[in-house]
Amino acid sequence: MPISPSYLDELVARNPIEEVVGQYVSLTRRSSNLFGLCPFHSEKTPSFSVAPDKGIYYCFGCHKGGGVVNFIMEIESLSFRDAVIFLAKRANMPLPDDGRPDAVSKQRDRLLALCKASAKYYHEQLKLPHGEPARAYFAKRALSPATITRFGLGYAPDGWNGLIDAMTAQGFTKEELLAAGLALKHQTKGTVYDRFRNRVMFPIIDVRGNVIAFGGRVLDDSTPKYLNSSETLIFNKRRNLFALNIAKKSKADYIILTEGYMDAIALHQYGFDCAVASLGTSLTEEHVNLLSKYTNKLILTYDSDEAGQNATRRALPMLEKAGIAVKVLRMQGAKDPDEFLKKYGADAFHSLLNKSENQAEYFLNALLRKYDLTIDDQKIAFAREAAQTIAAMPNAVERDVYCRRAAEAAGVSPEAIRIEAEKARKKMARAKRIRQERENTAVSQMHQPKERTIRYENMRSAMAEEGLLQQLAKEPELFERVDLDESLFSVPLLGRAYSAMRAQYEQGRTVSVASLGEAFSAEETAHLSSVLQKRGDLISDQAIDDYIRVIREEHAKSNMSVEERLRAAQDRANKN
Ligand code: CTP
Ligand code: MN
Repeated sequence: MPISPSYLDELVARNPIEEVVGQYVSLTRRSSNLFGLCPFHSEKTPSFSVAPDKGIYYCFGCHKGGGVVNFIMEIESLSFRDAVIFLAKRANMPLPDDGRPDAVSKQRDRLLALCKASAKYYHEQLKLPHGEPARAYFAKRALSPATITRFGLGYAPDGWNGLIDAMTAQGFTKEELLAAGLALKHQTKGTVYDRFRNRVMFPIIDVRGNVIAFGGRVLDDSTPKYLNSSETLIFNKRRNLFALNIAKKSKADYIILTEGYMDAIALHQYGFDCAVASLGTSLTEEHVNLLSKYTNKLILTYDSDEAGQNATRRALPMLEKAGIAVKVLRMQGAKDPDEFLKKYGADAFHSLLNKSENQAEYFLNALLRKYDLTIDDQKIAFAREAAQTIAAMPNAVERDVYCRRAAEAAGVSPEAIRIEAEKARKKMARAKRIRQERENTAVSQMHQPKERTIRYENMRSAMAEEGLLQQLAKEPELFERVDLDESLFSVPLLGRAYSAMRAQYEQGRTVSVASLGEAFSAEETAHLSSVLQKRGDLISDQAIDDYIRVIREEHAKSNMSVEERLRAAQDRANKN
């Protein structure tokens, strides 16, 4: 029984390539890719690349490449099927070999039903006599009954099997409780017990309204303060945001991103119904993608401590890259939004929202706080660092505005800052040119496939075919505009990849080389990965329509007789 495409998609999604590869290779980030020493050949400088967004790896040295399944096949010397089983176990997924192609979706439905019933159970405990400590806790945190209901907050009573007893009475099994991350198994005794005990409970709900996990907080100062459900078939904290199910319906045209559940909840209670929280992780690419589906304006309100500020600096470029306009809200007199609202109220928070800073302002203001401008040395250091920040701004008017601001703040002439900034810009431009030239040489050397069984006979068409696949992998919606048939491709492998990706798109699956399955050999998958890992600088500026035109032209030519070709060549020569 072949492994179903939806199972494969799930498997690939639950085994992020950078995590799996990271268990074998130490990786460091360089722009959007990660690099490390290739595990498949010996080398001293890293030429092994991993592209988390595309789900692939590729070694520029030995030309091995593919998705996460290929990686495990190669490194563990496993067959395709065994590699799938290996990864299924790693991600706590049910194994694919029970013969039912939809075993995963059945299991998923069971776990969702279990989480929903558990949320109801926890919520009901609040009303019982033994729920008193939790009621008192929520009262202490000034949560209104409406807020408690709206977020479905609850209580996991003290004890080892309150939830297990209630859920097994409803027909769920202990295995399901374990698989949903709600129960744990004692290592030696083998007994199963409740994960959450004597904690107030925050259901985590996905955008479709399913309860997928829980966060539980202690009622006092003991640790760990927060406990989340483990990662399960239905819960991945990198892909979900707390309260997005409510915030997505907000009338506000922006989203407020906070660090903690309690911050998001407090904001909602005070009328800011567009607040969401990440789930105890720093912001991930997946979060950014998710957010960009609902808004193009975001206000960051991370904690005012150092960790929060570091997280802010890290999040800013990620969000901007996704086309989200970000502003940073700076809190004074409180460590987080929850504390601020209680101290100063909604109006004060509103004026903070209005005063929130864009990225440039945020960086300049951070510099102003960093340096003591009454000391000449520090003034010079400020001017230099500000000039660096300004130099990186793409827009000339913006650069001008911030030169003036920085100059005014430092008490120097705007001209001085401008000169420094121009110097920094020239330096950056030079570095960029050199990098570009190096990459371009590398690209042209790479044009002919390294895999000897794959040859490009028609380079013009092949380059267009590669360019087209790169674009389609990046932006699958473009399939709507492409009406090519696989037979028009000059490279049969690229044509087959095109059809397979098109099928993924049409079936609503993730378009990725990583989940093409067994239809492509290891060599073929490696080559496709190399195509998608190429820097498209030489070709990708062209419009997708150009690629299509070139592919059609070259295909038409290939069907001409020798005489027709000569005539066409003469026609072209006459025209020039
Ligand atoms: N967190 C976690 N595990 C911890 C501490 C924190 O998962 N041991 C996560 C939680 O998602 C929490 C967020 O990090 O909401 C922010 O943590 P923190 O700032 O410490 O908590 P607060 O939001 O201030 O929580 P509270 O106000 O309840 O103390
Ligand atoms: Mn707090």
